[in-house]
Amino acid sequence: MNLGIIGCGAIGTDVAKAADKMEEIEKIYLFDINMAKAKKLYKIIDKGEINPVEDFLENVEVIFEGASQQAVIKYAEKILRAGRDLILMSVGSLFDDSFRKKLEKIAREKNCKIIIPSGAVFGIDGLSSASIAELDGVTLVTTKPPSSLGKSYNKRTVLFEGNARDAVKKFPKNINVAASVSLAGIGFDDTIVEIVADPVVTRINHKILAHGKFGRLRAEVENMPNPNNPKSSYMASLSAIATLKRIVSPIQIGA
Ligand SMILES: NC(=O)c1ccc[n+]([C@@H]2O[C@H](COP(=O)([O-])OP(=O)(O)OC[C@H]3O[C@@H](n4cnc5c(N)ncnc54)[C@H](O)[C@@H]3O)[C@@H](O)[C@H]2O)c1
Repeated sequence: MNLGIIGCGAIGTDVAKAADKMEEIEKIYLFDINMAKAKKLYKIIDKGEINPVEDFLENVEVIFEGASQQAVIKYAEKILRAGRDLILMSVGSLFDDSFRKKLEKIAREKNCKIIIPSGAVFGIDGLSSASIAELDGVTLVTTKPPSSLGKSYNKRTVLFEGNARDAVKKFPKNINVAASVSLAGIGFDDTIVEIVADPVVTRINHKILAHGKFGRLRAEVENMPNPNNPKSSYMASLSAIATLKRIVSPIQIGA
């Protein structure tokens, strides 16, 4: 299988390095808007080749996006129209209902998939299973050290409490996690999001609380930063690699 990668930053680099070691992957096509990033990654892997997305589209089965919402807006439709599966990290781009529905329609017509790794949160698998029966409520509580928000609070301060749709508008940098939880569970309008700045914590903490016919769920993670990008959780890279492994592996665990 050949893989395309859009975005050779922290997550793209981790994914490319892991894919380079996967025997099922023969070639890794790299693209970054910043050529220096693509070249840097090309030098440290064996199976790489740098090409514009339009040039490698026909040669790959799967494309991994680890770039930006703008990249998703620019390339997702093209990728799906070519019938290629798309692993998408910048999941906040799917917040726009009409854009997301358009991509879903194309993927259906072309018999390909938009695959969204769990990213920086835990519990997405359980939440998506639980959503098959009725869910009474889903809450995401994101707690950050004030410094990571560029602030200096001296006590625990709730910065936002409301639905995911409004959270995304007010705190676009939390958009990926809020979007993943919304898409796995009960949508942007009914998912409750709380964003807290807490001087006691040293790591970004995401907690999913859900209640429904299945029972009660509480999933919590404290994320270490990615060594190559302190703003990115290392877990996001691990989740992306696990997603790729799931695609190439004959055994698929979890739902
Ligand atoms: N789903 C999640 O939980 C989760 C977690 C962390 C990050 N993310 C998202 O994943 C994406 C990648 O994160 P990262 O930490 O690797 O970021 P990064 O800044 O380290 O790397 C992004 C790379 O993409 C490139 N890029 C940006 N726009 C591009 C475009 N239009 N075309 C091609 N290349 C482009 C940049 O030059 C950069 O090299 C971001 O959008 C981020 O918000 C999602």
